[in-house]
Amino acid sequence: MSTTTRPSMTEAEFKRLADIIYQRSGIHFPENKRYVLESRLGHRLAELEIDNYTQYIAFLTMGPYQTDEFQEMFNRITINETSFFRNEPQLEVFEKQVLPLLLEARARTKRLRLWSAACSSGEEPYTLAIMLERTLGVRLGDWRIEILATDISAKVLKAAQEGVYTNYALRSTNPLILQRYFQAMPAGAYRIRPDIAQMVRFEQHNLKDRLAARRHGTFDVIFCRNVMIYFDDGMKKQVAQMFSETLADDGYLFIGHSESLRGLNDTLEPTPIPRAFCYRKRGAELKKAA
Ligand SMILES: C[S@@+](CC[C@H](N)C(=O)[O-])C[C@H]1O[C@@H](n2cnc3c(N)ncnc32)[C@H](O)[C@@H]1O
Repeated sequence: MSTTTRPSMTEAEFKRLADIIYQRSGIHFPENKRYVLESRLGHRLAELEIDNYTQYIAFLTMGPYQTDEFQEMFNRITINETSFFRNEPQLEVFEKQVLPLLLEARARTKRLRLWSAACSSGEEPYTLAIMLERTLGVRLGDWRIEILATDISAKVLKAAQEGVYTNYALRSTNPLILQRYFQAMPAGAYRIRPDIAQMVRFEQHNLKDRLAARRHGTFDVIFCRNVMIYFDDGMKKQVAQMFSETLADDGYLFIGHSESLRGLNDTLEPTPIPRAFCYRKRGAELKKAA
């Protein structure tokens, strides 16, 4: 097959592929997004020297390459847009209002567990690590802080673990933070400080996998931002249910500013804190920040 001409996807092929993707990941491709799948996977078909999507679907769903090809496909079809300090007003609520309350609530155990679910290339969990470090300062050593960062895509997790970023990823980062928490590298790149990097543990996890989520235990804070926009209501419902099971009774769930769990879960309710986009379990005590 020529590498210059990309095969087109028939309606039936699109339906089958979109259905497989949805079953596996919850990512919903409506019919008007057929061109998106074509443009993201066309190059993959060329690499595999596969002539059409019917053959690709067979390759994807059968035989010894199945797992690897699903991985390869998710690396290509996911949108991984992110940045350090993304949606700063929301992060300020976390750092200035929620974190002090949680530190007080956990003063006896000195243990805090955070989960950045759908973390992409690591900017979000490293931002949380920076915020914890600057809040706790010298007290950090007294605490057992765990930040779990997960994503479906192995490619972004590999980049996250390398911890090297361009100016673009740091476009919302204050120069003083850049100076303090990053090491300048050749060609304008920046590496996250190793002690901050060590606060975060990366693991592959598909939000569709509720059992794997349970194995991670309970979290005081969950960030799951800007991924539910790719899910339909059915998948959002599953994810909300999974979070209601993994969130501590007095924990906080932060979602993206254009996302909502309205009508999807009876246990989780939005907090009235402006610009927080934050949910808590019904009945969780909402104290005012000191
Ligand atoms: C737009 S990024 C959001 C990154 C970060 N949370 C933020 O707000 O900046 C969305 C991420 O969700 C991941 N993703 C998509 N479907 C997923 C699923 N079913 N399970 C886990 N991660 C998923 C993608 O790989 C991508 O890295």
